[in-house]
Amino acid sequence: MTGFSSAPLWYTTRGTAIVAFVLLTGSMFLGIAATQRSFASRHWPRFATQDLHRNVSLLALAFVLVHIVTTLLDTFVYVGWWAAVIPGTSPYRRLWVSLGTIAFDVILLVIVTSLVRHRLPLRVWRALHWSVYAVWPLAFVHFLETGTDAAHGRFGLWLDIGAMLALVIAVAMRVSAGNEPIGPLRSIAGRPR
Ligand code: HEM
Repeated sequence: MTGFSSAPLWYTTRGTAIVAFVLLTGSMFLGIAATQRSFASRHWPRFATQDLHRNVSLLALAFVLVHIVTTLLDTFVYVGWWAAVIPGTSPYRRLWVSLGTIAFDVILLVIVTSLVRHRLPLRVWRALHWSVYAVWPLAFVHFLETGTDAAHGRFGLWLDIGAMLALVIAVAMRVSAGNEPIGPLRSIAGRPR
């Protein structure tokens, strides 16, 4: 650490990043769960599946934004403002920061296309929305390779591994249930399939 003035921003960057990653994992877990009949049936209230998924996703986005802004304002490492949206522009850990940048770009794409979804053919909107599946793996590797808290076997490494196991279980449950996805895509799109 070069100076005290940089420390609060640097810790905010790391703290919000960790919270964002945990929320992102929760959002993925709920998203997968909400497409299973066992969870997304009439016996489960909407707020326990789709609404929770949506709200956790929005909260994750808020933490991602703070993570990015504090990274850019911080002087401890220099990544440059373009690194927020253009992959490959960060002088600091170029490749691994780029994965975070791409994850953020995908999030922006999904949000913008969801805002104008009524103007898009459902098939196009859905194809774009599915790209959200790339966000978590990108954030996972970004965390593993860029994060101070995952380096040298620190707690971040175990958090990363725990998050991966949670999602493997969710996907395995979904595959073994053998259900046709229902619910969220249709209701988010607000139109019949
Ligand atoms: C969906 C988007 C993103 C997510 C979920 C995310 C998540 C994370 C996580 C979990 C860490 C590890 C923090 C730690 O070890 O304490 C991290 C580190 C970092 N991220 Fe991101 N990030 C994202 C986007 C970005 C973007 C766009 C940039 C560049 C502007 C960026 C720059 C950094 C930097 C420089 C670090 C290193 C901090 C450290 O050494 O601990 N991230 N990010």
